[in-house]
Amino acid sequence: MAKPGSDSPKVRWMDAVRYAIETQSLVKLTLSGTWGSAPTLRRVLGRLVDLKAGTRISLVFRHDTRDVTQNFELSEGLAELSRWLDSGAASGFLRSTDAEWELSGFADGVGRLREMPPPTDLTSPGVRRMHDRVRNRTVALGGSTWLRDLGVTTPDGSVCAGKEAKFRQIHRFVEVLGALFDELPPASDGSVRTLIDMGCGKGYLTFAATEHLQKPGMGKWTIRGIEQRPELVELSNRAALAAGFANLVFEQGNIQNAAVASVDVLVALHACDTATDDALARGIDAGARLLLVSPCCHKEVRPQMKPPPPLEPVLRHGILLERQAEFVTDALRALLLEWAGYRTRVFEFVSPEHSGRNLMIAALKRSDSSPREDRAQAVRELAWHYGIQTQRLAERLNFQFSTNPQHPPPPVPLRSVGENLL
Ligand SMILES: C[S@@+](CC[C@H](N)C(=O)[O-])C[C@H]1O[C@@H](n2cnc3c(N)ncnc32)[C@H](O)[C@@H]1O
Repeated sequence: MAKPGSDSPKVRWMDAVRYAIETQSLVKLTLSGTWGSAPTLRRVLGRLVDLKAGTRISLVFRHDTRDVTQNFELSEGLAELSRWLDSGAASGFLRSTDAEWELSGFADGVGRLREMPPPTDLTSPGVRRMHDRVRNRTVALGGSTWLRDLGVTTPDGSVCAGKEAKFRQIHRFVEVLGALFDELPPASDGSVRTLIDMGCGKGYLTFAATEHLQKPGMGKWTIRGIEQRPELVELSNRAALAAGFANLVFEQGNIQNAAVASVDVLVALHACDTATDDALARGIDAGARLLLVSPCCHKEVRPQMKPPPPLEPVLRHGILLERQAEFVTDALRALLLEWAGYRTRVFEFVSPEHSGRNLMIAALKRSDSSPREDRAQAVRELAWHYGIQTQRLAERLNFQFSTNPQHPPPPVPLRSVGENLL
């Protein structure tokens, strides 16, 4: 598990905050200072809260005569804290169950960071609750035979060296999925619902979903993992048998044409490049109520991109072009999903310091799932803006991109721009 890094004191303090939140080891968080934009504000206090929608950062803004509380998604909460830290905080204090971090001395513009061991008395009810929650979750999954069989934990239930990130990802996935399941309508007349994990690899997340769906009140489920590599399918089926999951099956197949008669929830994490689009299209076609993808290897759109004029000088840098291509691809996906009758959320799934492949798109089917023409227009505008002619999800949904004759012709291809500027 990556510990806070070695940048400036502020960055390291924020790293420590992020780490404490990720590992659910946060005990106390306080920013003190004077903020010109909020003259009566004295402190910002943070803690984690478990809401029906999932874990949130709760920030209490303590003013002279009142408290204002706001709950944020984790990434938003971190951004919010960072904003208040940068705009007038004189000090920051963080206590986790691992350590205390005191940030102070901003007079020189840099600040000082002091790390101390946590107090020995960690017996207050709040801290115990935090400990219990982390321990219970760890034991619950740490004791699973499938985690051991897939090489994530040792026979005594501890996480194998080098598998901490995977273990954290699995937990986070269960948290995200659990919160999204709360938003699904209940199964009609107790029927069996289906979750399909496309490009499931070894099936870490398929197993995690299965374990979650065994819980009381979750209804009856069949879970299918589709994977092209036969050796992984065999390994996962053996582990499913050992775990006693009779409702879980792994099948060798291709995302593009595996049989999908019906699906309620479709998951595809890190299915490479346009395999994400194929998976989304399969789910949409089959009427899935929830689609959850974490895209990776955005290769399709980048070679087509022609920068709009203001971006010409910057998109000659390969890394910026790559990030822009990721942004545009995932933005198009989210818009296309909305056009196709879904509500979407795009968020960071795990902290970027643990994995760069951390973007997640969740799409819940709207009750009125008629196509949204405003989103169709937005897709066309965005594609036109970057000179994009084709995108796999659009293709699979028979969505036509068209150039807008009212606009001037798209700018020159990126290669020529780079050549001119270098
Ligand atoms: C990076 S792994 C991710 C595995 C798993 N979803 C996870 O997040 O742990 C991608 C997996 O998708 C599989 N895959 C990629 N394209 C596929 C396709 N078209 N059909 C079936 N499997 C595919 C690969 O073989 C690989 O095991």
